[in-house]
Amino acid sequence: MKSFSSEELDTESAESLGPHFCWGVATAAFQIEGAAREDGRGESIWDRFSHTPGKTRNGDTGDVACDHYHRMPQDVGLMAELGVDAYRFSFAWPRIQPLGSGAWNAKGVDFYDRLLDELDKRGLQAHATLYHWDLPQALQDAGGWGHRDTAMRFADYAAFVGQRWGQRLRSLATHNEPWCTAHLGHAIGKFAPGLSDEHLARQVAHHLLLSHGLALQRLRAEGVGCPLGIVLNMSSATPATPMPEDLALARREYGHLVRWYLEPLLLGRYPQEPGLPAPPLIEPGDMACIRAPLDFLGVNYYTRIWASHNGTPPPARLGVSDMGWETHPDGLRELLLNLHREYPLPPLYITENGMACADRLENGQVHDPQRIDYVRRHLQALAQAKREGLDIRGYFYWSLMDNFEWDSGYAKRFGLVHVDYETQQRTLKSSAHWYASNARRQRRLTQPTTATEVTHG
Ligand code: FCB
Repeated sequence: MKSFSSEELDTESAESLGPHFCWGVATAAFQIEGAAREDGRGESIWDRFSHTPGKTRNGDTGDVACDHYHRMPQDVGLMAELGVDAYRFSFAWPRIQPLGSGAWNAKGVDFYDRLLDELDKRGLQAHATLYHWDLPQALQDAGGWGHRDTAMRFADYAAFVGQRWGQRLRSLATHNEPWCTAHLGHAIGKFAPGLSDEHLARQVAHHLLLSHGLALQRLRAEGVGCPLGIVLNMSSATPATPMPEDLALARREYGHLVRWYLEPLLLGRYPQEPGLPAPPLIEPGDMACIRAPLDFLGVNYYTRIWASHNGTPPPARLGVSDMGWETHPDGLRELLLNLHREYPLPPLYITENGMACADRLENGQVHDPQRIDYVRRHLQALAQAKREGLDIRGYFYWSLMDNFEWDSGYAKRFGLVHVDYETQQRTLKSSAHWYASNARRQRRLTQPTTATEVTHG
């Protein structure tokens, strides 16, 4: 078995991250909140999907999840204990507007008021996402993201959130990983709403991007002053060999995953080249709307794309996660440098990065050196990218705590905090202690020391 070291982030990397580097943790509403039928929350496509036999591992659902809806103050307390600067979470659209149009739900709104109060009290920055995959089922019944009208409904929802909470957020992202919604949800049916139609998936991708652009317009018109952006899942792509088949495959996969989303957003056009699909149906004005300036771009990175036309496996020198994803921190650096070279980028946040491990709670402890190793190596890759000129503002570990990992249910554990789903007991893993102490140390190394820090450091 490989051995992993729990050593600290090296001083050079810590210094390169700089004095204003934001240390955060991330979650998403459906994955943690539970309380699926409480206080007027509407049904979402993930409720419907996870309750459909055969769609999730063990038939797991989000009905209870981490019961965060009832334990929110305690969970915010955990973040305070970790000493992070920031929390990335998502608003559940069906909690705020149960049918995705029409009436707003006062009790759902109240929950997010209380969350923001709690974050304020603890001095934690709030980085929110409007859509982390939980579309109100009523909108799905009317055609979902395949229907252009859903983009208009999303813009109304965005405007509501902006009016209500815009002043209290440190940043607001429209979508999380539109590729997952379009491709996993509509082309291969692995995620809600579980459809398998390539052509539809292209149109869905366009409507997601359009809804993003419309939302930015509305939010800016409302005078929402916090930075506005979007979060994409991205990877570098490595051809397994220099053979033309592998080179072409790498280019195509990167095109599907990264360029198909980034080029409309940053350049106002879909990439057109052999191997990539024909553009979707576009109405006049759509591309200009999608191209609205971004205040930031969120990058979610877990692993690289290994492009092999004959199925040669990646070398996986640093191991693979419990998801079967290769640990390849260099891919993060390579991705960021490519982006920097090719596009006029806004400031970046790493909005997700993390690892699922087969964690075991033993004698009240979870020992997860493999996760520590993963995080340290990715922070080192970021530090390196910063030294090479990238503007990276922060890092959000996915996830604060173990949670509902979509079609994998509760079987995959990504948290810094272990959750016992029988008792809802939270236990800080050794990675949580590592994260807390390395964040503290990185600040100490880069920020001017104060008398208190010297005394009690
Ligand atoms: C990302 C999702 C997030 C989580 C991680 C493991 O694609 O945004 O919700 O499931 O993967």
